[in-house]
Amino acid sequence: MSNVWPPSAARDSRGALSIGGVDVRDAAAQFGTPLFLLDEVAVRSRARAYLQAATAVGAHHVYYASKAFLATAVARWVHEEGLGLDVASGGELAVALRAGVPGGALVLHGNNKSMIEIKTAIAAGVGRIVVDSFEEIVRVADAAERAGIVQPVLVRVTIGVEAHTHEFIATAHEDQKFGFSVSSGAALEAILRIVKLPSLELRGLHSHIGSQIFDAAGFEEAAMRIVAFIASLHSDQALVVEELDLGGGMGIAYIESDDPLEIDQLAELVAGAVARECTAWGLSIPALAFEPGRAIVGPAGITVYEVGTVKPVETDEGVRTYVSVDGGMSDNIRTALYDAEYTVELASRTSTADLMLVRVVGKHCETGDIVIRDAYLPSDLAPGDLLAVAATGAYCRSMASNYNYLPRPAVVGVNEGVATVVLRRETLDDLLALDPGA
Ligand code: LLP
Repeated sequence: MSNVWPPSAARDSRGALSIGGVDVRDAAAQFGTPLFLLDEVAVRSRARAYLQAATAVGAHHVYYASKAFLATAVARWVHEEGLGLDVASGGELAVALRAGVPGGALVLHGNNKSMIEIKTAIAAGVGRIVVDSFEEIVRVADAAERAGIVQPVLVRVTIGVEAHTHEFIATAHEDQKFGFSVSSGAALEAILRIVKLPSLELRGLHSHIGSQIFDAAGFEEAAMRIVAFIASLHSDQALVVEELDLGGGMGIAYIESDDPLEIDQLAELVAGAVARECTAWGLSIPALAFEPGRAIVGPAGITVYEVGTVKPVETDEGVRTYVSVDGGMSDNIRTALYDAEYTVELASRTSTADLMLVRVVGKHCETGDIVIRDAYLPSDLAPGDLLAVAATGAYCRSMASNYNYLPRPAVVGVNEGVATVVLRRETLDDLLALDPGA
């Protein structure tokens, strides 16, 4: 059974939930709902644990994948803990730089980086650019040449391993938009073009096989295939690959039965597979890098909603109670998009009432606007009660929308009883300001 709540989660004498020493009722009253609370200690300790596990197996870099959730405060926290940042757009790059993260600690991703994004990254001295297409090799080389620098690059390769949660499947066709295929020869061609360009320095290869992965098998398989490719580069082209960035994808527990591998175990298994393969091929071991996103911030965040209506509905299977909250698919699209499962609790008080089967839904004009498909909550649940949803620190605020013109919620950092705004709540004025109409 996994704990899905941040380690600081506690109930006070009156039964209300607190995170990071902050009572959710006080936070809701001060900042409004829906509200994301992000436990700074949890983010920092997870960042440290990932860095330690990676360093223990000889990895050189851990980059926090900022797409999971980014604000200057979070960029600072993880950078202070020794992580670099993976940025995948000019926007993410701008936030990381504004936070004071040096360009050298950044890796720039994206399958269609704009010329402005490439130039800005080069001007900022971004440590690695991960090239993803033949067009981009030319664009990055031109921009580096104009800037008078030699830009270190990684080549994103696809090796026919696609990992989905519990299993991985090997695909022959590699039918997806990212990277250069090894089996088609595109990856080799990309590398041969890069080494001829004086403004680019080939530092290594990058692979990202998927997200919310629970076991090491997909990573091990990917690592083994890449090492075989590195061996062929070594023997056929006399090329040495110094770095191997294995991307992110480490899974987290959203519900108690989720059972992701511990990070140090995962790091050992993956690094072990790389080392074994390298020895078998007679290669020196490349410096490993990892890019966890979800695993750093996901378990550190919760969402607080206020219940607005409690509506029993007759269905063929009996009565289903729809509990409507004041957000929904605009602050958590993952249930609608991926059938994601979450854990919810009554947060503003405890109750001894019997449990009832409910569906927690949002306030949007769409039937699929479901936060949690099936949950058990006390049968005396009433409007005004606060609900807390666990493990929403990753890919909820960062994928939030303004559907139905809902202002996006605030993200508030909590630490030792102090609540600090990390991102403020949007206002209607923010939204209206975009519309030039009178
Ligand atoms: N590195 C690269 C190149 C990536 O594309 C990603 C995620 C990561 C690292 C971080 O992966 P993580 O450790 O967070 O799994 N919106 C989806 C997740 C999409 C992930 C995309 N790339 C979700 O809500 O589950």
